Amino acid sequence: MGVKIVDTSLRDGHQSLIATRLSTKDILPVAELLDKAGYHALEVWGGATFDACLRFLNEDPWERLDLIRKACPNTKLQMLFRGQNILGYRHYSDEVVEKFVQKSLEHGINIIRIFDALNDLRNLKSAVDATNKYKSQYDGHCQIALSYTTSPVHTIDYYVELAKEVEKMGADSICIKDMAGVLLPTDAYELFSRLKQSVSLPLELHTHCTGGIAEMTIMKAIEAGCDIVDTALSPLSGGTSQPCTESLQYALAGTEYDPGLKLDYLKKACEKLTVVKDAFLKEGKLNPKALTVNPNILKYQVPGGMLSNLMSQLQGQGAMDKYEEVLKEIPRVRKDLGYPPLVTPLSQMVGTQAVMNVLFGERYKSCPKEIIEYLKGNYGQAPAEINEDVRKKIIGDAEVITYRPADKIAPEFDAMKEKYGHICKCDEDVLSCALFENVAVKFLEAKYAPKEENEVVEFNVVIG
Ligand code: CO
Repeated sequence: MGVKIVDTSLRDGHQSLIATRLSTKDILPVAELLDKAGYHALEVWGGATFDACLRFLNEDPWERLDLIRKACPNTKLQMLFRGQNILGYRHYSDEVVEKFVQKSLEHGINIIRIFDALNDLRNLKSAVDATNKYKSQYDGHCQIALSYTTSPVHTIDYYVELAKEVEKMGADSICIKDMAGVLLPTDAYELFSRLKQSVSLPLELHTHCTGGIAEMTIMKAIEAGCDIVDTALSPLSGGTSQPCTESLQYALAGTEYDPGLKLDYLKKACEKLTVVKDAFLKEGKLNPKALTVNPNILKYQVPGGMLSNLMSQLQGQGAMDKYEEVLKEIPRVRKDLGYPPLVTPLSQMVGTQAVMNVLFGERYKSCPKEIIEYLKGNYGQAPAEINEDVRKKIIGDAEVITYRPADKIAPEFDAMKEKYGHICKCDEDVLSCALFENVAVKFLEAKYAPKEENEVVEFNVVIG
């Protein structure tokens, strides 16, 4: 049995390289071909795709999912789910989480990949329980992803212990989610060897090519027993995205790890996606910088997206000369905050705090409000001790919660249904509004507005 492949082109691939701007029209012809290529699964939904559909593409994300499901009768579909945050930016009540899980499965998702930025397992529980509750009804699968980072507390032992916990919680498989692309090949070998001995679930690796080591890391993980790896079709691979699917197939063909993908279908899908990619390049929506290897991330241990955000923040302040200083400040802020993994939203929070610390000339003189919430415990449990002097300086004697942040959130679905009832025609619409409020309302208002007569007039033009 060879290694299994999950293709990420239609979710992380375009999220990493072109700000999640593939439209359903771009996606469907590619999905149809990938469906016949023999993948373990296609990651096509969740992450930033939902937000991008409503905010930038004027598309209904639920309808996109229905169309992809129809185009892919043979292959499992996967989504990325941010635990208690669902696909949004705050914690939601447990019944909203459950409803979203159920509707995702009903619309055709099979594998729900659930993660929490802090690896606070309490933030995963309601999404995991909901997936397990409905999975037999919809051919679902509950995957828990562990956010990978490096720090004095994020050791191999830490991940092995966490993996044992998530196995007990009811995961069907475990993914190591290396969003920054900082997992080194030899560490991957040790990590996957240890995981293989410690848990009995299928293991998956998700990494990024940002630092230029992903192909090596994937190979070492496979040699250590990793069952599934995430790759992207060549036009949307490399750089800040995943390693290339076709290249991996060529590299492993005929070996015990042969993924068995049908290259002729990959080639056809690649041709279609290349046309789309070229258009994005031409319009300047694909920055060639995103395709370049950036070994600095291995030195600073920060995701590529965070480095580019940092540069634009500093450029905006006319303070590019402080770049190195800010880079040195990031690990200090991270230590003060108990070593949060640098993944959305923590990466932006830590980065902004580091910029403020340097530009104000005094550490923690000013803070983003998200950092204040984090220090009050409202994101969950930090992986390590928080620096109490820093906490005191920022929040004084304000209450710090130790219970799960969503514990105090009362059921809110019915209230949302009432609030957005005038614009919603189904529960899916209510969920869109719950997550993206004004953006979703604006989208739905336009979607359900009576169509102007002249929009549907057909012209018969006779030439000659
Ligand atoms: Co990713």
